[in-house]
Amino acid sequence: MINLVSSFSSVRSCTSLAASHDTSATTDSSAYLSVRIRCPKEVADMFSEALLCFGASCTSIDEQDDCESSHEIHIDSVFPQFQDVDVCLSQAADSIGLKEIPAYEVKMGEQCDWIQKTQESFHPLEVTEGLWIVPEGRSPPDVGATNIILNPGLAFGTGEHSTTKLCLLLLRGLIKGGEFFLDYGTGSGILAIAALKFGASLSVGIDVDPQAITSASRNAALNDIRPETMELRLVSNKTCTSLMNEGTNEAVKEQSTYGMGPVSETEKYDVVIAIYF
Ligand SMILES: C[S@@+](CC[C@H](N)C(=O)[O-])C[C@H]1O[C@@H](n2cnc3c(N)ncnc32)[C@H](O)[C@@H]1O
Repeated sequence: MINLVSSFSSVRSCTSLAASHDTSATTDSSAYLSVRIRCPKEVADMFSEALLCFGASCTSIDEQDDCESSHEIHIDSVFPQFQDVDVCLSQAADSIGLKEIPAYEVKMGEQCDWIQKTQESFHPLEVTEGLWIVPEGRSPPDVGATNIILNPGLAFGTGEHSTTKLCLLLLRGLIKGGEFFLDYGTGSGILAIAALKFGASLSVGIDVDPQAITSASRNAALNDIRPETMELRLVSNKTCTSLMNEGTNEAVKEQSTYGMGPVSETEKYDVVIAIYF
């Protein structure tokens, strides 16, 4: 902590830029404050967490940062419309031993459909030669390639994460044809779908998140996956008991089929990938 505090002696004092809008004039509940903070890199994670404790609705560290100083990084955060941002930042800074509030600027933002906005930001992604992840509604750049069509919804697995990419490469090497594949922590179903496209006979996707199961199911349909080749199971995080997903999808298996665990002892798989962190 001593090191941390001393490393902030050079931090410039707060240069709060007040929102250009007259916030008192608007009472629109869909408005929010978008606050971009220039923060010393060493404490960006801690400060980001502290902001959440002192009023920020969400924060994200801008990894693609264009900060002039290599010792600083930007944190983007969102606050409720009438939050006193200066007080929040001051409390957050104080809580982690920062002597001065990092410089920040505030803009008024309008709520929008964030899911749609995020999805619109996805573009076709070439994982490796001949293997593309194509967001729903976009044209595959190479129609002859293995194209995995994805609408990630709220589930993890857009193919942009390195673990997903590495697993796709691994799967492509492992699947020779006819394998049974278990995808533990299926998320968007990307790996389960990929395995089938590479030639597996069966993919079983398991997840604790109902939105993941819904998303994987939708993605399976987008990729014309035959329902009998891809099974999706919603399991309980605490008990690992298979749960009946009532009416979500025909491909979601019933608890009685599999006993009390997400995978029964009699099931055999040729390839298993478990990513559920
Ligand atoms: C990092 S994502 C991986 C998604 C996808 N397999 C991929 O590689 O892109 C992890 C997924 O595991 C799920 N998960 C977390 N804990 C789990 C558990 N105990 N059992 C099954 N799934 C779990 C999460 O809901 C999430 O969808």
